[in-house]
Amino acid sequence: MLDLAKLILKKCDGLPLAIVTIGGYLANRPQNAMEWRKLNISLSAEIEINPELKMINTALMRSYDGLPYHIKACFLYLAIFSEDDIIRRTNIVKRWMAEGFT
Ligand SMILES: *[C@@H]1O[C@H](CO)[C@@H](O)[C@H](O)[C@H]1NC(C)=O
Repeated sequence: MLDLAKLILKKCDGLPLAIVTIGGYLANRPQNAMEWRKLNISLSAEIEINPELKMINTALMRSYDGLPYHIKACFLYLAIFSEDDIIRRTNIVKRWMAEGFT
């Protein structure tokens, strides 16, 4: 099951909250490869529909909601980039300044 664990961990993308939540979820499921294979294949969909994993989305939403107004704008601006784009700090700060975010 080590290979499956690696696949699932990779999908957590180093996010501690995702690793802890999914680890806790798997600890309470039947300990077999079938169960882990199912989670590997359906992890994204599972986070949307499974109440135990939905807390990942909830925590992300709360983190966003807790940001000060001007930081929310900076955060949302990141949506102009594609997934896996490398964002250079100096570049993004200049863009934010040009947008009038302070
Ligand atoms: C894990 O999931 C990916 C899709 O996200 C799939 O391509 C891959 O075959 C799966 N691996 C196993 C061992 O089920």
